[in-house]
Amino acid sequence: MSFEYTEITDPLYVENKDHTGEDDFIMVRAKQYSNVPIKISHWVPKAHCFTTMFKQHEQELLEAEVYPDDVWVISYPKSGTTWAQEMVWLICNDLNFEAARADSLATRFPFLEVSVIHSVPISSFEKAKNTPRPRFIKSHLPVSMLPKRYWEVKPKTIYIRRNPKSVAVSYFYHSQGIHYRGSIDTFVRSFAREHQFYSPYHAHVIEYHELQDCDNILHLSFEEMKHYLPSVVKKVCEFFGKSYSKSELDLLYQHLSFKSMRDNPTVNYRNPNAPASEEQFIRKGEAEGWKKELTPEQIELLDQWTKENVPNLEQRKLFA
Ligand code: A3P
Repeated sequence: MSFEYTEITDPLYVENKDHTGEDDFIMVRAKQYSNVPIKISHWVPKAHCFTTMFKQHEQELLEAEVYPDDVWVISYPKSGTTWAQEMVWLICNDLNFEAARADSLATRFPFLEVSVIHSVPISSFEKAKNTPRPRFIKSHLPVSMLPKRYWEVKPKTIYIRRNPKSVAVSYFYHSQGIHYRGSIDTFVRSFAREHQFYSPYHAHVIEYHELQDCDNILHLSFEEMKHYLPSVVKKVCEFFGKSYSKSELDLLYQHLSFKSMRDNPTVNYRNPNAPASEEQFIRKGEAEGWKKELTPEQIELLDQWTKENVPNLEQRKLFA
């Protein structure tokens, strides 16, 4: 077996299990990781949180095809993935706004492993496999769980991270929009105990940051996109060997603005059954919204969690 599965016995999870509205959560650890070019000595990957559905798809995940002309966007959930995907897709597709508006981002940029957490009509691995090349692939997989072929092929990849307090708030509203029925306080505490999909959060971010000789990966942050979008776009254009005029880029900044993305149904996914009042996928889009949305106690809890999990001060800067 390539993965090791461990039940979650933490009383906080057990007490609040019914609030998740999901299949049972389970911790999954990759056992074959010697091909990952990571700088951390004696690295042993941590177990990450998924549902028991993972077991049914582990072979598909391991064997998933990876092509040299693929473009991947990877992140811990709620880090600005959709925003980065739309930017990358347009930059790589000659700023074809018409094509971007004609087809949902989920079709243009399939989510490789969504089958391991939610039941979907067609296996997400199958969907990604049948996507015409060059493919654009979204994934939240941690470094240790990428398909075997990823490290042989090393396709161009963007990794985007976001401040943990913003992620916590965004993840709560996102989960609430799906099945979650607990309070924000319970959610924040369980996030800090690593019981949300793809957690542990810090390890996810640090491990991508500590890869070595991976010039196929460009690192971005949500905050950088929020405050310096033109400089991020410039970096991404250079990374993909693309060049656009100022007036073309102005259209891109406009297309990527919060308001325009929020009004754009191809990127702002909505559950057709959700009442109009329900939170939208593209919700607030702020860099420091957590200051208003979390209590002082929740902020203290999350800050303390980061301090404990990231003793290395250089690495801690990733979470400022
Ligand atoms: P909030 O919930 O804080 O509003 P992901 O795509 O990884 O799930 O991330 C979703 C987060 O990115 C949401 O954060 C969403 O509003 C934000 N986002 C998406 N497009 C954005 C944009 N154009 N500008 C700012 N934030 C954006």
